[in-house]
Amino acid sequence: MITSQLENYLSGNLYDNTANYYDYDNRDIIKDDLEFYVEYANKTKGTILELASGTGRVSLYMAEQTKRQLECIELSEKMVNRFKLKLQTTHQHLQNKINIKIGDMADFNFGQKFEFIMIPWRALQYLPEQELAKKCLNCVYRHLENNGVFVFDIFKPRKYDENWLGQESISYDVEAEGKRIIRSTVNHYADTTKKKIQYKSRYKIIEGGRETMIEDLLTYKYYDHKEIVEIVQSLGFRIIAEYGYYDKREIKDGDEMIFVCSK
Ligand SMILES: C[S@@+](CC[C@H](N)C(=O)[O-])C[C@H]1O[C@@H](n2cnc3c(N)ncnc32)[C@H](O)[C@@H]1O
Repeated sequence: MITSQLENYLSGNLYDNTANYYDYDNRDIIKDDLEFYVEYANKTKGTILELASGTGRVSLYMAEQTKRQLECIELSEKMVNRFKLKLQTTHQHLQNKINIKIGDMADFNFGQKFEFIMIPWRALQYLPEQELAKKCLNCVYRHLENNGVFVFDIFKPRKYDENWLGQESISYDVEAEGKRIIRSTVNHYADTTKKKIQYKSRYKIIEGGRETMIEDLLTYKYYDHKEIVEIVQSLGFRIIAEYGYYDKREIKDGDEMIFVCSK
């Protein structure tokens, strides 16, 4: 077990330094989930709710494919600014389909219910305490119609030991707009009792022969399968399907834990 103080989770988890680079990610994992969410949304009707919508990666695709209205909630002003910029430039035709609210996914009230609610790309784990995740899931429960569907995904925990600590892995290396952008993760801290990890999300940007580096420290709460199932069920949800990846492989065979829930 590694122990030390968790630090400064909030600004890191809101991408205070790196929001402008979020959308350069070209990995399969952030494309593979899009059709999965559309498929489940298509089993429902009415306005869709996305929590922690970021720069609109999923919402924009969803609005395009389903032609439905979306309500989005996101706490990071910087991510919301990116999202709004896309609605004003590349996605103008979706402006009247999407409403974005700055707010906390653990404490929100839309005063309406939804047939489809989603928390894509591990965002629930950005709430660094289990109690906050429960508050969030409770809000989801209150906002879900009786015939509604709720989908979220979290990652499957790995072994967080001395070998894990300090490791740097390149996530992607892309060229865009005259810049080379190399994104890596640097494992920073693990508390295997509280089940939290931190890594630095690092961007090296090379432009005109000059290199700059920016980072955010991301803090994740992680859950094993039994734990998250107990939490979800204790709040009244029924798990109607669970998968290990967006291609619907069995949960034991994938790195993700994707849950499709009803009331
Ligand atoms: C991994 S990103 C996912 C963004 C988007 N859903 C996607 O799939 O691309 C996690 C998002 O959670 C947001 N976030 C972190 N804590 C939050 C909170 N308490 N309430 C709402 N959003 C939050 C971050 O700002 C970030 O945009």
